[in-house]
Amino acid sequence: MSLALDARQRAMLAEMGVRLWQRPAERVAPVTPESGAAAADQARAAAPFDPEPAARAARPPAPGPRPAPVVPAPAPAAPADNPLGPRPEGIERMDWPRLEAAVAACRACGLCAGRTQTVFGVGSRRADWMVVGEAPGENEDRQGQPFVGQAGKLLDAMLAAIGLSRQAGDAIDSEAAGADQAGAGGQNDSKRGVYIANVLKCRPPGNRNPQPDEIAQCEPYLRRQVALVQPRVILAMGRFAVQSLLQTSEPIGRLRGRVHHYAGVPVIVTYHPAYLLRALPDKAKAWQDLCLALEVMGGQDGR
Ligand code: URA
Repeated sequence: MSLALDARQRAMLAEMGVRLWQRPAERVAPVTPESGAAAADQARAAAPFDPEPAARAARPPAPGPRPAPVVPAPAPAAPADNPLGPRPEGIERMDWPRLEAAVAACRACGLCAGRTQTVFGVGSRRADWMVVGEAPGENEDRQGQPFVGQAGKLLDAMLAAIGLSRQAGDAIDSEAAGADQAGAGGQNDSKRGVYIANVLKCRPPGNRNPQPDEIAQCEPYLRRQVALVQPRVILAMGRFAVQSLLQTSEPIGRLRGRVHHYAGVPVIVTYHPAYLLRALPDKAKAWQDLCLALEVMGGQDGR
């Protein structure tokens, strides 16, 4: 595969590299009075992605708040006055407003009972890049946006290292911007934009792992998001995103370093940012994964 990065990307790669993610401030997640929730979110997100159970077992217990319970919380039942209902028909034909409304109203699995709100997605809806994560945590459930906690900060730093931002391209998405969108800033900013979504749109209770039936119920929404965005590459972050997109139970370590496909879109497998917060050496591997994604993009530039 040819490496066809543009000058700005090459400069970014040389200048920032892995060190960007290893700033001392990021080495240890700050302990704040509110870090209990954040730590619980991280614990949930990090544990499933740890490729080295032995190392995990040897790790001393984290100070501060107690870790998330080992026994997964059962899926909550919907209250009798607001029962579960079928997923809406025709998701595969929905436009953005209808899809977003369908997700917001979804009661197809028990997660609807415990959510504050659904977490649909964020970023440019015309982006070349799409990031797929696992599920909202406590912060995301409260704010209605994916990746807003410590893992989200690391994700933003990773994206910045390759010249991407979840903010870029916002104006492009405005219907009102019309045909002048790309011209205003002298370039089409959606090229630097990224769309970020999760496999699950509702927060699993007690920071437990997503369950297969929940993933199955939610998958059509993600599939439609991918079809609407039409990204040129998808970064699948963490075990649940990877396994659900690629329909495999293989571990991340065996899937990395190759180009997979989901709905015809190239998929690059990488570690979840919450896992990377704890597994510093694997940041170098995640950097390799981003470089592979850049290669895939570069390889398509001449098409
Ligand atoms: N982890 C995820 O996978 N997604 C989020 O939105 C937040 C944390």
